[in-house]
This record gives sequence, C-alpha cells and structure tokens, in this order.
Amino acid sequence: MRIVVLNASSKKKGGASRCFSRILKLMLAGCQVTTVQVRNQSDHEDAFTEMEKADAVILSAPLYIDGIPAHLLEFLQQAEMMCREKNCSFRLYVLSNGGFVEGRQNKIHLKMYEAWCRHAGVTWGGGLGIGGGTILHVFCILLPILFVLRLIQVAAIFWTNGDISGGEIWNCMQGLCIYVFFLLGLLLHEGIMALGIRKGRTMKNHYTRVWMPSFLFLIGADIFMLLAALCNGTLPHKLFRKVYPDTEKNG
Ligand SMILES: Cc1cc2nc3c(=O)[nH]c(=O)nc-3n(C[C@H](O)[C@H](O)[C@H](O)COP(=O)(O)O)c2cc1C
Repeated sequence: MRIVVLNASSKKKGGASRCFSRILKLMLAGCQVTTVQVRNQSDHEDAFTEMEKADAVILSAPLYIDGIPAHLLEFLQQAEMMCREKNCSFRLYVLSNGGFVEGRQNKIHLKMYEAWCRHAGVTWGGGLGIGGGTILHVFCILLPILFVLRLIQVAAIFWTNGDISGGEIWNCMQGLCIYVFFLLGLLLHEGIMALGIRKGRTMKNHYTRVWMPSFLFLIGADIFMLLAALCNGTLPHKLFRKVYPDTEKNG
C-alpha cells in the first residue's frame, strides 16, 4: 500500500502539522510511506508525482481563519486538475489542527477537503480535527526531553545509593504520566485513523483536543503567547495596541 503524507505547514521547519503527521507515520510502520512538503509552488510537482501512484494521501494542515491556508488553495486547484486528468484513485485523509482548544473548530475546514474530493474525483477517507494544536505540539517536544531527564535522575539515584526501589522509580516518572494524559486524545484518534488507512476504509470525521480543562488551557496558552511574543522582540503592551488602517486614521 502506497501512502503519501503531505505536510502543509507554512513553517519551514517544525510546526504542529508536521509533528502530528510524524506520529501517524509511526503508527503506519510497515507501509510504504513517502512524505512531501507543500509550502510553495516549487513543491507541487513532487507532490503530484507521488499522489498519482498513491492508494492513500494524508494531508496534515493547520487551520487558518477557520479555513484552508492560502498557500494550500493554489496547490489544491492544480491538484484537482491533475487528479481528474490522471484518474487518481487514492483516498484522502486529513489531519487539521487549530490553535483554539475545541477540536470542532476544524469542522468546516474538513468539509472543504471533503468537497474538494468530490470535484477531484477521489474518495474522501475521513478527517481528524485537533484542538489546542500548538500546545499539543509543545508537549510532543517536551515529553521525550523530560523522559530522558527522568531516566538520568533514576540513574543518578541508582549510582549514589547502589540500588533503587520501584517506589523511587515511580516518583521520578509520575509527572510524565500527566503529559502523556494531555496527549492521549491525539494518540487514540490518530491510532483509529491509522487503522482505517491500513484497511482502506472511509471513516466519519473525529474531533479531539488537548486533554486538559479549558481554563488551564487558557492560562497556559496566554503565558505561552506572551513568552513567544517576547522571544520575537514584541513587548506585551504592544500586543494590545490597536492598529488602524491609514484611511480610518486620517478620516
Ligand atoms: C494566519 C493564522 C490564522 C489562524 N487562524 C486560526 C483559526 O481560525 N482557528 C484556530 O483554531 N487557529 C488558528 N490559527 C492557529 C494555527 O492553526 C495553529 O497555531 C496551528 O497549530 C499551526 O500549525 P503549524 O505549526 O503546522 O503551522 C491561525 C494561525 C495563523 C498563523
């Protein structure tokens, strides 16, 4: 089974969309999976060549203003013609992730790809709408780092005491379980999608989110955004400044 993963994050490196498609790719171990970036015009030919031969295409895209990112629109227009010309017969699966916490924010975005399938003459395989994409991405990066740090802590205790009890290992590792819990919804739903892809089935759309209470998410997301703004050289008070278009200011 030939599977093509299209990473449609506008970011050159990293990005939540890339991270989520990598997790799905791990779950598709044993299948022939090729990954192509779709960021600009120069990527289109490579993507088309792979799509032509594919049994399943997985598109991982961020949600921009409740819809398809602009750089993907042009790609989809050209891909639609290519699919009709070459009689493509793949099934399209979509991972859509947004910054807001509710996975259902991605509902319309998924509907757009479903409609695209009808126009391009290919089969809709199903979609997963992911809420809290940015924070889930941060957890995906932090989890392996924390795991290694905890392992070092366990090794250090063993080194100094000459042995270590199960209780001490649990004390070191229990914090990690909270991170794993935050990611559980994403992992479970990606697992369901991977199963569907392997079986060549069309599934109904699913929605998931970072598994934490919304009020905690809001506090965490605000702190994260402030820190990100500071790292990019924007002072917090500038974030609240309203910028009016020239015409309104002059008028
Ligand atoms: C221009 C722009 C528009 C966005 N619009 C939305 C939106 O309407 N709803 C939402 O939940 N997130 C929105 N986001 C947040 C992104 O969907 C979110 O950060 C996503 O995880 C980015 O994925 P990436 O890292 O793969 O680019 C927007 C981000 C940008 C840059």
